[in-house]
Amino acid sequence: MQVLHLFALFTFASAKLLLSYNASAGDPASVLGQQNLQGWDRATWPAGQKQNASAFFTTATDPNGVPAAHVHKDAHFIRSEYHMLVEKTAADQTYYIGYHVSFGTGVDYESCPIVFQWKNYNPDTVDTDDIPVLLAFQKGSTADQYIISFAAEADPSADDLLSQETLWTKEVTHGTAYRFGIVINTSATSGFVQLYFNGKLSTMISPSTGEHTTKYSGNFFPGRSEPKVGLYGGQATNACDSYIYNVVIGTTLADIADVADIST
Ligand SMILES: *[C@@H]1O[C@H](CO)[C@@H](O)[C@H](O)[C@H]1NC(C)=O
Ligand SMILES: *[C@@H]1O[C@H](CO)[C@@H](O)[C@H](O)[C@H]1NC(C)=O
Ligand SMILES: *[C@@H]1O[C@H](CO)[C@@H](O)[C@H](O)[C@H]1NC(C)=O
Repeated sequence: MQVLHLFALFTFASAKLLLSYNASAGDPASVLGQQNLQGWDRATWPAGQKQNASAFFTTATDPNGVPAAHVHKDAHFIRSEYHMLVEKTAADQTYYIGYHVSFGTGVDYESCPIVFQWKNYNPDTVDTDDIPVLLAFQKGSTADQYIISFAAEADPSADDLLSQETLWTKEVTHGTAYRFGIVINTSATSGFVQLYFNGKLSTMISPSTGEHTTKYSGNFFPGRSEPKVGLYGGQATNACDSYIYNVVIGTTLADIADVADIST
């Protein structure tokens, strides 16, 4: 009894999570950080105006009644996201991000492609390296095939705004919950990214070199870069909904083991 008690205290004290959102515990979405909404055909969201039925991100339930943040944006609306770790990331760190999410009807490559971004906020490099790491939907071979991809840009000096390489893809279905574990090491000289999907470390394939790896090397920290979850991008066609059960960010794999279903 005593030993168990001490063990519980120790594990609690050693877990220095940078962020934890747990819909089942009733956490408000605001624990994720700063809400970012953007309007009709990229219109700026009016300052001080709250979310509304056109774009919102709020703790509710998924269509089966399971507690989740319900993320929504109407057709034409460009953004419904939370910006996490605002001004809290640095070079020479390793960030472990666990993301338990399901995608609702409407989510596709045309209407809301980007569901996770590691976004560059450094004005000096953003023009050539806008989103160093992302999870995004890609066009499938039929209209009802939904392909999610993990992509990253290893070289911030490559002179193209969107020159990320697609390193991994997976066919997913609407209404199924998936667990992502994204690892980003922000060293300029020995940085890397890794991806866990439903608890398994993924093999990534570089389209430019053909390299197969579970650790893709590069510089993923072109100055201030921070993670975002939600729904971003796309144009007219569909309203989009996603359901986020948990997001956790820590500094060890153990920090995300539960949410990303990784055995450590
Ligand atoms: C989330 O909260 C629920 C209810 O308190 C709890 O059972 C569950 O273990 C929590 N999940 C995580 C990953 O902390
Ligand atoms: C929500 O606010 C946006 C931005 O002001 C506006 O364009 C949109 O029409 C509003 N939607 C509703 C349902 O009120
Ligand atoms: C980042 O990765 C390098 C190896 O590529 C490693 O030496 C370094 O310790 C890592 N940094 C952190 C903070 O984990």
